[in-house]
Amino acid sequence: MKTDLVFHPTAVTASTRAAAKAQRPVVIWFTGLSGAGKSTIANGLEQGLLAKGRHTFLLDGDNIRLGLCRDLGFSDQDREENIRRIAEVSRLFLDSGLITITSFISPFHRDRIIARDIIGHDAFIEVFIDAPLPECERRDPKGLYGKARAGLIKNFTGIDSLYEPPLSPDVHINTFENDIETSVNLILSFLEKRERQ
Ligand code: ADX
Repeated sequence: MKTDLVFHPTAVTASTRAAAKAQRPVVIWFTGLSGAGKSTIANGLEQGLLAKGRHTFLLDGDNIRLGLCRDLGFSDQDREENIRRIAEVSRLFLDSGLITITSFISPFHRDRIIARDIIGHDAFIEVFIDAPLPECERRDPKGLYGKARAGLIKNFTGIDSLYEPPLSPDVHINTFENDIETSVNLILSFLEKRERQ
């Protein structure tokens, strides 16, 4: 099947699109436990980038699982396919010239490496949104930890499904110690520094 397909180059290229937006597109890949603060910080970050005149897009776990990935559950294989699709979509957004933020648990090393390979190492920025499991359980913003502990949800990350923390993330945000504004500002400063390099 694959051998019958040929990539068709476009007249307007990724770099033309980026130049038209006067920015260097990247994919800011959040990973972390449910309740660690990914969605909240991703929202704040997108607002912060917009305020600086950047063109952005935000892909968020629950929203994507209500649409593009509505056929997927939470087995290891389904999570792998979820992350593969997100990485492919992010790659398209990257080529469109947008600064893309992805907010998914993305619990497995292997899947994040695949995502990095699909997106390209230069454009992939891994951000670990880190809070201890007991703190995420205490926050339990969607009541899902309670349900998982009661056995009503299976394969819940941190309870009966593994979370593999990144070994050397580009940015490590501890949301137990830092509030939302500080967390967003830490990522914005990292991005500013990186842009100057
Ligand atoms: S991932 O593991 O494939 O990256 P993703 O970020 O898309 O997960 O979805 C996680 C969201 O789905 C959580 O924020 C939570 O609201 C919801 N959810 C429902 N069931 C589970 C589960 N078993 N494990 C983790 N999250 C779940």
